[in-house]
Amino acid sequence: MRIFSGIQPTGRKHLGNYIGAIVQYVEGQHRAAEHGDVGIFCVVDLHAMTVAYDPAEMRARVYDTAAILLAAGLDPERCIFFRQSDVPEHTELAWHLGAITSHGDLNRMHQFKEKSARQRDLVSADLFFYPVLMAADVLAYRAHEVPVGDDQRQHVELMRDLAQRFNARFGDELVVPELLVPATGARIMDLQAPDSKMSTTGGTAEGTVYVLDDAKTVEKKFKRAVTDSDDPPRIVRDPAKPGVTNLIDILAAASGRTHADVEAEMASARGYGDLKLATAAAVNALLDPVRERYAQLRPDEDALEAVLGAGAQKARAIASETLVDVRRVMGVGPRP
Ligand code: TYM
Repeated sequence: MRIFSGIQPTGRKHLGNYIGAIVQYVEGQHRAAEHGDVGIFCVVDLHAMTVAYDPAEMRARVYDTAAILLAAGLDPERCIFFRQSDVPEHTELAWHLGAITSHGDLNRMHQFKEKSARQRDLVSADLFFYPVLMAADVLAYRAHEVPVGDDQRQHVELMRDLAQRFNARFGDELVVPELLVPATGARIMDLQAPDSKMSTTGGTAEGTVYVLDDAKTVEKKFKRAVTDSDDPPRIVRDPAKPGVTNLIDILAAASGRTHADVEAEMASARGYGDLKLATAAAVNALLDPVRERYAQLRPDEDALEAVLGAGAQKARAIASETLVDVRRVMGVGPRP
């Protein structure tokens, strides 16, 4: 059972990324190793180039993200951890998959619609092609599972379609991967606007909790979280109560409990203030050690570069084999 996931080096990583995805990577690397396979995790710098970005900042953002993932518990001895642009097989496979992707497939992607609407000057062709590169990321490794947050559902659906289409047309070379979203925390919402997902680019500054925010800032953001005016306050999950539901989800995910446990424990709370404080405390307990390890790891860019470089070699060894098969069945490249 092989696992693959990717994460963008853009901006700072937030609690949604952490709970929705990073926690699953760390768990996935152990689960894959226990099954005699490997978890493969990638900082996707090529995906970050699809919107306006600053070239002078890109490498630093890759190091930031790599240090967060290592601090969270990715172990380069146990998993394969690398930078996407170090493995050119991803872009080659994306081109090949583009041959069986329709313009209509890509036009339907919600994330393209959202992101293109936000671009001020250029909507790049790469932004449109983004889901194909993402499919190539996973299919190049013949991965079985893709741990992601809920917002990546449609992209994973497309990569499954492309793998099936490829296999039907050229022969069974690719693995059709399964989506893996966490039971709790697949969609962490903005604390100030709980109808929208927490997001670095689309969210509110006050409602977005960053992994590297200090403990005081985290507490302040939770204390100010939007709830509702139910009187008496009801600490239950309910679609009509998005703020309270989000806090329950965060508290459950951060403390490794179920929603029901959290609701039962909070039944005796005096008000939403108790829920907010308990959630802030659980989040700080989760992130304190990550921030500490990050502070040790981030300054040593040579060491981070060495980890990513060694990971890229292992990744390439796998992806290049897939590409030999893909080229052969597609009829490109020299005679086998
Ligand atoms: P990215 O970098 O935007 O986000 C990384 C992961 O965080 C999850 N996520 C969330 N989960 C819960 N609540 C939220 N509010 C929230 N916001 C983000 C995302 O679902 C994601 O899992 N396209 C991908 C990167 C990618 C990739 C891949 C993923 C490139 N190639 C191959 C899987 C497989 C992305 O933009 O992630």
